[in-house]
Amino acid sequence: MKLKVDLLFLVGISISVKSAFAFSYRALPAGTVNLSSSVQRDVYTMADWAAGYGVQQAEGVLLTSYDGNDYFPMTQSYIPAGSPVMYVPSDLTFTSYKAMQEFGASLSICENQLVQAGLGDKVPLFRIFFKIIAEYERGEESPWYPWLNSLPRVYNTGASMTYACFDCLPPYAAYLALSERQNFVNFQKAIKSAPFSEDIVKNVTLLKWAYNVALTRSIEINGERMIAPMADMFNHSADTEVEISYDDNGDCYAYATVDIPAGSPLRISYGDPTDPTPLFAKYGFLDESSPGTFCKLMHMRSEIDALGYTFADLLFYRENGAISPEVYDVVLYHILLKEDDGMANGFYGAVMSGDENTKSQYHDQYWPYTKQELQKHVDGTLRDLERWSAKAQSYDLNTHPRVPLILQHNEFVKETFLRVKANLDMM
Ligand SMILES: *[C@@H]1O[C@H](CO)[C@@H](O)[C@H](O)[C@H]1NC(C)=O
Ligand SMILES: *[C@@H]1O[C@H](CO)[C@@H](O)[C@H](O)[C@H]1NC(C)=O
Ligand SMILES: *[C@@H]1O[C@H](CO)[C@@H](O)[C@H](O)[C@H]1NC(C)=O
Repeated sequence: MKLKVDLLFLVGISISVKSAFAFSYRALPAGTVNLSSSVQRDVYTMADWAAGYGVQQAEGVLLTSYDGNDYFPMTQSYIPAGSPVMYVPSDLTFTSYKAMQEFGASLSICENQLVQAGLGDKVPLFRIFFKIIAEYERGEESPWYPWLNSLPRVYNTGASMTYACFDCLPPYAAYLALSERQNFVNFQKAIKSAPFSEDIVKNVTLLKWAYNVALTRSIEINGERMIAPMADMFNHSADTEVEISYDDNGDCYAYATVDIPAGSPLRISYGDPTDPTPLFAKYGFLDESSPGTFCKLMHMRSEIDALGYTFADLLFYRENGAISPEVYDVVLYHILLKEDDGMANGFYGAVMSGDENTKSQYHDQYWPYTKQELQKHVDGTLRDLERWSAKAQSYDLNTHPRVPLILQHNEFVKETFLRVKANLDMM
């Protein structure tokens, strides 16, 4: 999309960011960002800094906060669909390909380790992580210092969770959160080969912060990871107002995807909103607007795979306790595999060929068994949820600050499961 930026935007003064990173082992310069959890984010200095470096915004767009911790952009003026909301010049952006140009061989050594650990697909994210650490190490000499100093210190992501947290979550959420943590552990190992100071590569607090920044603020475009300071402030929603794109020059644009009334938050999509758990594990928030949750049939994973379904197909709906049809298929296939191979094969064939008539004959014939199996699963999960939440409540909030989020997640699942139970019991 081509647009006349200057006609629509407030014009900022453009200064080019010259990055002069040269590798050497050295002591940390004074003035590295203070990562103490009690430090206030300095978001307004960052906004001035961004304007000084040529970031432009549509009239009426400003950063706002309900609680002084979380900030998000909103608009005080009407913005018509299709018009630009924000522009970030490429000089200011972090991208995985620019990190490779800047750090070359030193980065490759670390990346080989990631590849060996089976995390080749995380290489773009690692490059952003590396660049963030490099700029952190430069302290106030980094052109990005005001941006770094504006970022949250505390994260509720899976990578920040501990085994005590995983113990209080349903298996699917625990599994996703633990995978995030394992990715971080592998990043931590790989960065040891980088020519940063010992103070950096051994400091888990700092590395985890850099990982969380890279993970939660970058977006993926054509296999590359990018962060555009200021455009990284958009929050997630299932109903979005804004979309982000990059042009051939690497400049970042945010456009209005709908007519946006004055007073609206400006939000993008961080990922599939149908089930809140993957976003919970990755970003550390619960999207209460999600329509439902994965049905948590983790013990039927091989049946799910065999039928060609993904977890996102297998939903329980929160509003009315509805069950997606694929759930019944998986449960019935599980039952038939235990009882009768011939029947299992017949049912499998009907599902794979999309023969709805035959499928529903199987479903009718076995309905009492399917219902019983589902009730057993739902009742069992509800009991487990009580246990997990009771355990979370027994933790000290000072040492386990993520307990409220975990309880919120489990409550969302519980509400959904209770509605499904009410439906099942009446069927
Ligand atoms: C790690 O870095 C943080 C942030 O700079 C600092 O507050 C903390 O003291 C460091 N920890 C260690 C063990 O050096
Ligand atoms: C970091 O901030 C905390 C909380 O404001 C403060 O107590 C601590 O002294 C600061 N650390 C440094 C190295 O300035
Ligand atoms: C961002 O969105 C999430 C999910 O809807 C929500 O939990 C969180 O409070 C939002 N943050 C802000 C600052 O609005």
